[in-house]
Amino acid sequence: MRVMRFGLGVAFLGILACPRMETGIAVEPAKPDSQAVERAREQVRMLDTLYKNAVVSITKNYVNQQADVPAAAVAKDVFKAMKDGHYHNARLIDVTGRPKNKENIARTDFEKAAVEAIRSGKEYVEEIAFVDGRPILRAATVVPAVMEQCIICHGKREKNLLGTIIYELPIK
Ligand code: HEC
Repeated sequence: MRVMRFGLGVAFLGILACPRMETGIAVEPAKPDSQAVERAREQVRMLDTLYKNAVVSITKNYVNQQADVPAAAVAKDVFKAMKDGHYHNARLIDVTGRPKNKENIARTDFEKAAVEAIRSGKEYVEEIAFVDGRPILRAATVVPAVMEQCIICHGKREKNLLGTIIYELPIK
């Protein structure tokens, strides 16, 4: 299992071996530096805390009814700015099977596998992949319905789960 050679030690990663083929790389590139991988993980933790606190605060302070602009719309604007600035990619996607917006369904193999993992109780999954020969960290974190307001628009969902944020950022 190629992913395990990077010593990630996350049992789930085994089933994520396939998405790595997307990169179409026949020869396995050099293993990324472990400290660089740790820095990328730290960045995911920081971004995740930032985004989730912003979403909760916006919802708490400005969102009272279905007609209001959801914090998810603000998050999407910020994700776009981060992508345009070539900092990282982030996507808020659905794990319920009934998204508010059909754009927010899992598309890539990593996203699909992450949705399955989150649905089965995982709170975090990751993989290291190579895009154009450069190492990247893909990570997914759980998005539960953390407050009553979430339910106003999304309805009650199995295990209180709504989605996952998918991150993709360079390991450097
Ligand atoms: C005012 C209604 C509203 C509230 C309150 C709300 N959402 Fe949403 N949410 C939406 C809408 C509308 C979208 C689709 C946004 C888009 O893609 O344009 C969305 C999208 C999402 C998505 C992406 C999957 C999907 O369903 O499209 C997740 C995950 C999500 N919201 C989680 C939350 C969480 C967690 C909370 C509570 C902190 C919350 N939402 C509160 C309306 C709401």
